[in-house]
This record gives sequence, C-alpha cells and structure tokens, in this order.
Amino acid sequence: MKILVTGGAGFIGGNYAIVMTERYPEDEIVVLDALTYAGNLETLAGIQDRPNFRFIKGDIRDRAFIFDLFEKENFDVVINFAAESHVDRSIENPGIFLETNVMGVQVLLDACRKYGVGRYHQVSTDEVYGDLPLDRPDLLFTEETPIHTSSPYSASKASADLLTLAYHRTFGLPVTVSRCSNNYGPYHFPEKLIPLMISRALADESLPVYGEGLNVRDWLYVTDHCNAIDLIVRKGRVGEVYNIGGHNERTNLEVVKTILKQLGKPESLIHFVKDRPGHDLRYAMDPTKIETELGWKPEYDFDTGIRKTIEWYLENKDWWQHILNGEYREYYDRMYKERQ
Ligand code: NAD
Ligand code: TYD
Repeated sequence: MKILVTGGAGFIGGNYAIVMTERYPEDEIVVLDALTYAGNLETLAGIQDRPNFRFIKGDIRDRAFIFDLFEKENFDVVINFAAESHVDRSIENPGIFLETNVMGVQVLLDACRKYGVGRYHQVSTDEVYGDLPLDRPDLLFTEETPIHTSSPYSASKASADLLTLAYHRTFGLPVTVSRCSNNYGPYHFPEKLIPLMISRALADESLPVYGEGLNVRDWLYVTDHCNAIDLIVRKGRVGEVYNIGGHNERTNLEVVKTILKQLGKPESLIHFVKDRPGHDLRYAMDPTKIETELGWKPEYDFDTGIRKTIEWYLENKDWWQHILNGEYREYYDRMYKERQ
C-alpha cells in the first residue's frame, strides 16, 4: 500500500510514521507537511533513510500542488493528521484554523475523489463533543453524542468531520473518522500541557495551571492512538466514526503533580493563572465500539505512559531545547503575559 500521511512532521503523525515504517516494510509511507511552527523534521530524522519512507514539503491548502501530487503518486490511502492543533492559538487567531482544518480538508477530499483513493481517514478529536460536567463521572462521549463545540479549534475539527462524512454520503467516498482523547508521549510540542510542564519544571520555572486546575482530560499514550488508526484504516467500516480513549481521566492538577513528583521538583512551582475562555470542563471517551468491533486495546495506562514520556524528555533534551530557543519564547511570553 502507498499511504499519504499529511501532517507527519507533527506530534502524532510523526509517531505514526516512525511506528508504521518499521511495522510494514512492504508499505510505502509518504509524509507531506507544511512545516509550520509545529512541524519538525528532527522528529523524522531516525527514519529518513528507511527505503519505504519519503518526505515532501507541501501545504494541504494548495489545491494545484495537492492535485498534481495525487496525479503523480497514486495513493491507496490518505491519513490526514495535518491541522492547527492548539486551542489557545485558536482563541488568539481563529482564521488559520478554518483555512487548514476545514478548507485544507476539502482540498484533500476533492483530490481523493478525483484520483480514486481507496480510503481517506480523518484524524479527529473528542473535543468535537464539547465537554461533560465534573459532577457526572458516569457520563462518557459515545459516537452518538451530539457535536457541540466550544473553541474555534473544536469547531473547525467538527466541520471537517461533517464534511468528510458528507463526501461519503453524497459522493460515495470511502472515508473513516477517528475521534481520540488527549495524547501524550515523545515529540509532543511544548506548548501543550504535559511537555510544557516537563520542560519548565526541569528549568525550575513556574508552572502555569489554568483556573483551579480541576478540568479533567482523558489521556492516551500516542502509540496507542497510532495503533487504533492503523486498525481503522485496515479493518474499519467505511463511513463510520470510531472513538479512541483508554479511560485515563486526570485533573490537570493531578497531571502536574505527577510530573513534579517524578522529576523530584517542589509543588511550589505551581502557579494558578487566569483561566482559558470557554475552557472545556471534562472530556471522557467511551471506546467500546473500537474495542468490540476491531479488538483495539491500549498498551499503556497513564502511570506507565507518563513515566515513559518523562524519560524520553530527559533523554532527548536537544529535540525540545531547539524548539524552546526559537520563536516559541516569543509565543510563551505573549500568551502567558495575559494570564498573569
Ligand atoms: P501538531 O500540531 O503536533 O502537528 C500538526 C502538523 O500538521 C504539523 O507538523 C504541521 O506542520 C502540519 N500542518 C499544519 N498545517 C498544515 C498545512 N496547511 N498543510 C500541511 N501540513 C500542515 O498536532 P498533533 O497533536 O500531532 O495532532 C495531529 C492531529 O490529531 C490533528 O488533526 C489533531 O486535531 C488531532 N488530535 C490531536 C490530539 C492531541 O492530543 N494532540 C488528540 C486528538 C486528535
Ligand atoms: P492542552 O494540552 O492545551 O490540550 P486541550 O486543551 O486540547 O485539552 O491543555 C490540556 C489541559 O491543560 C486543558 O484543560 C488546559 C490546561 N492547561 C493549563 O492548565 N496550563 C497550560 O499552560 C496549558 C497549555 C494547558
């Protein structure tokens, strides 16, 4: 199979390319990425010489470029990880989220239609379901939970899901959609909660926890997400949505305290800062469908996964320190100055 992995220089797409080029030497994996602030070729350095791997720089919004690429390459499968992915940035500047996450997806869907791609897989998020109350731990998101978005990011991702499913219903395009909970693991850009807290704690810098730190996220180790996508692409039913999550709910404060404990750093580093506008209270996934239909099971629980993740950040300081030295510093100062 020849698989196009868009956004493969980012966190999850990068992990996907690393795992799958090794698992399937007979498949050809082509990573396409625009290398925005979040894309990083250093993530792919370890696989760049694999014979079944190729990298192409390009933008999913560029229709002429994408059509030309699809005409030349004859992809069997397209897996779209490419997106603007950070909620806080979507609050600062929603426009780019619509351009990439909605219009870019439309370009990919049109190209899949025109060139007869056998499967388009849209990588989506639990955030399309909105949030759950903190006092109802019995409630979980299922595939039937109505779409009810809170941020420009989640609204753009929900739009993409709807468009993808509409191309299936209207044009018969063979699509699947997966909605996963929060990921963590190696190569995670340090603007997101877990790598931000690890990198700042290691430098004895203050740890900005939004509000009271009581919001709950359902954490999944990144390779468990990649394995779920692989199963859906190979065995999932066309036109279906699959939820992915491992029942690992933690408050943000619990996550930060776990990181501090493992690093041997004091809780006095924690600083409560102004809350995120529209901040979703709780996400929690019901993954029964993918478990029963496709036999998916996560390999890591949170305690094992977070230990492995912290070890990776300790052993791969160069990867994230290169990021912290760049335009990231300016981003952090701008974004967090307003939260003081
Ligand atoms: P990321 O921000 O780390 O990576 C996104 C990648 O897309 C980057 O390499 C970037 O350069 C690339 N990109 C952005 N705009 C592009 C464009 N116009 N053309 C081509 N490439 C472009 O994001 P991530 O955390 O790896 O997320 C990947 C996907 O998974 C996203 O669609 C996201 O919505 C979804 N998702 C993420 C999580 C999570 O916890 N991180 C959870 C569920 C779903
Ligand atoms: P994030 O990693 O941005 O993922 P998402 O908002 O998509 O779930 O944030 C995870 C949680 O951590 C979220 O409730 C916001 C909170 N948070 C902080 O408290 N401080 C921070 O500096 C960041 C980046 C996030």
